Amino acid sequence: MKETQRLDKLLAHAGFGTRSGIKLLVKQGAVQVNGKTVKDSGMQVHPEKDEILVDGEQVLHKEFVYLMMNKPPGVISATEDLRDRTVLDLIGPDYAHYDLFPVGRLDKDTEGLLLLTNDGKLAHELLSPRKHVPKTYYAEVSGAVTEKDGEAFRRGVELDDGYVTMPAELQILSTGDPEAGRPSKIELTIMEGKFHQVKRMFEAVGKKVVYLKRMKMGPLLLDEYLALGAYRELTDDELAGLRKEEKR
Ligand code: URA
Repeated sequence: MKETQRLDKLLAHAGFGTRSGIKLLVKQGAVQVNGKTVKDSGMQVHPEKDEILVDGEQVLHKEFVYLMMNKPPGVISATEDLRDRTVLDLIGPDYAHYDLFPVGRLDKDTEGLLLLTNDGKLAHELLSPRKHVPKTYYAEVSGAVTEKDGEAFRRGVELDDGYVTMPAELQILSTGDPEAGRPSKIELTIMEGKFHQVKRMFEAVGKKVVYLKRMKMGPLLLDEYLALGAYRELTDDELAGLRKEEKR
C-alpha cells in the first residue's frame, strides 16, 4: 500500500461523499488531522499513522472490503452490463466507493454464495485454476440422479466441447421421480470453474439442472440467514480461512 494519500480520496473511500462534498466539509472546518483543523482537502495523509476526525469522530480506514452475498436469480455477476442489473447494483452507497467486483461468476439464474471484494490479489489466488478451490453447489435436477452419475463425475465426464472434468463429488440428497415431475436434489463439489460447469456436467449424463445454488467456496459457507440479494462483510474468521486458502 502507498504510504500516504490525498485526504479527500481517503475520506471519499471512507464514505464521506464526493471530493467536492469533502472540500466543503474542510471549508466548514469539520475535518481535523492530528488535532489541527485542515484547510486543504488535497493534503497528504497517512491512513494508519495520522489521526483523522470528521465532526469530532475518528475516521476508520479500510483499504479492502470483503462481502458475502446471497446472489438472487436474474442479476448478472459482473461489474456492469448494458441490459441487465448486476450484483453491484444491489450494493448500497456505503460501499459504492470501494471498486468492488465479484470473485468469479455465477450464471444469471444461479443463486447463492458470491464473494465481492476490491482485493485483486486474493481474488486472483482464489480463482487460480492451479489452486483447485472446491466449490459446492446444491442443485435440483430433472429426472432420477443415480450413483452411476456419481461414479461418472468421480471419473470425470466429457463436456460438449470435449473437455474432461476433474474428479467431482456427488451427494444425492433425494432421488427424483420423473413420472411425478419431482426433481432429484443433490450436492456437487467441483474443484474447477469452467463456464456453466455444473449444468454441462449433468447434460453430459443426459440430465438437466432446473435450480442451482452455490453453498460453499473453499472454507467459506453461505450464511443461511442472508436473504436473496442481501450481503454482509466477512467475519475475521472467514477472512482468515480464505487467506489460508490463498497461501496454499
Ligand atoms: N455451474 C453452472 O452451471 N452455473 C453456475 O452458475 C455455476 C456453476
